Amino acid sequence: MNVHDSRRMEEVLSQAGYEAAQTASDADVIVFNTCSIREKAEHKLMSALGTYRPLKHMRPDLVLAVAGCVAQQESEKLLRKVPYLDVVLGPDNIPELPALIEHVRSGGPPVARTVFDNDNPSFLQATPRAARDEVCSFVTIMKGCDQRCSFCIVPYTRGSERYRSADDIIHEIKHMVEGGIREVTLLGQTVNSWYEPGTADINSMLAPHQRALDKSSQFASLLQRISDEVPALSRLRYTSPHPQHLTDELLEKHASLEVLASHVHLPVQSGSNRVLKRMIRRYTREHYIERAKALLQSRKGMTLSTDVIVGFPGESDEDFEQTLDLIKSVGFVSAFAFKYSPRPFTPSLKLEDDVSEEVKDERLAALLSLVAEQQDAHLESLVGTIQSVLIEGPSRGVQGRFMGRTERNEIVHVDLAPEQNPVGQLLEVEICQAFKHSLRAVKRGESLAPVPAKNTRRLPLAGVQ
Ligand code: 5AD
Repeated sequence: MNVHDSRRMEEVLSQAGYEAAQTASDADVIVFNTCSIREKAEHKLMSALGTYRPLKHMRPDLVLAVAGCVAQQESEKLLRKVPYLDVVLGPDNIPELPALIEHVRSGGPPVARTVFDNDNPSFLQATPRAARDEVCSFVTIMKGCDQRCSFCIVPYTRGSERYRSADDIIHEIKHMVEGGIREVTLLGQTVNSWYEPGTADINSMLAPHQRALDKSSQFASLLQRISDEVPALSRLRYTSPHPQHLTDELLEKHASLEVLASHVHLPVQSGSNRVLKRMIRRYTREHYIERAKALLQSRKGMTLSTDVIVGFPGESDEDFEQTLDLIKSVGFVSAFAFKYSPRPFTPSLKLEDDVSEEVKDERLAALLSLVAEQQDAHLESLVGTIQSVLIEGPSRGVQGRFMGRTERNEIVHVDLAPEQNPVGQLLEVEICQAFKHSLRAVKRGESLAPVPAKNTRRLPLAGVQ
């Protein structure tokens, strides 16, 4: 989501005549895009701003801006905390960035713009750039979140749910595919709660968690339309779905639509019903496992990854054991794991953050080690198989090697003769080696050169933030 927002900022600035600077000291404007999902991200911003203070002191005409979720959360307060800051910009105010910069450059005082576009939501269309040889892109289909999970600051920083029309979404995907994009990931906080805005259906008047009781799924129909109307698209992914909206209709699309990737990132957060309830996740462990297994069976070779929070207030050893048990039972091939971090404006702030840092660290390590075992076994199981890999670009630092992804999401490095330019192509490859977080392959029918040892252990599929 944040990468996507950074790109939109780059685009509005370039339309206003700005060019990318090579170094910070060459820049007339520096924009920090921020995330506030965990406290660590906020600390990073404050220390990054501190690093630029001497530059701003030397060149008072330099415009410093903070965008994204910390900007939305803090608004004017950030201008008071950081007196040398010029612009604070919320996620819905990206189109106003050039005007705000001009305001400051022409002598105006520091300014904060953090207003949600609730009445008339705008979705900035991305511009694929042929020069960048881009193959994959994101398309936002909804913004905001109505789930109100007790740990999550997103409803505060991104506002309530707003949906983009199917026509508009399909128009953007067509435009991207014409510009060379082969793989699109549909983006939304709870992407599968998407609804055609303004539909007369009674469902559109219900809150998303009530709508989930309805077995029909407009999101599933959207996937069908994309498949029908953009046949040149090679792959379609979506992130992040909410388990509560994993309808039978959506499962059916995974079985029938070839364009859909064979991998879903389905955040679970915890495997304990007690904790899930305190998190206000609106599903049980049993429901999650049933849906996850149905998803795994919907398509040959399907894999799942997830997000987990360890050390949520009140999480006991037994609760955590339940989480490990669920991870094994579903068989995730990767996971992002986070230590609970109390966030302002969230309901769980009222609960005591009573799991010690030490226990959070231990649980995080145990969880990551289990996921690493499952990931290793999964990657090993692919050695010797034929996979279809969408080539995204050259592998860094190795001549004649290209990086791509399988239709699940494994990263594959493919050795190819240097004169070939396979970027954007779907190649049939044979997997010949499993690394820690990636695979190595050759084009089907070709043989393998020796592996340079230092190329192992790169490009994590799972990680800690
Ligand atoms: N503490 C720790 N992790 C969090 N996440 C969201 N809020 C918090 C928090 N307060 C994690 C969730 C979510 C991912 C994007 O970030 O796992 O799925």
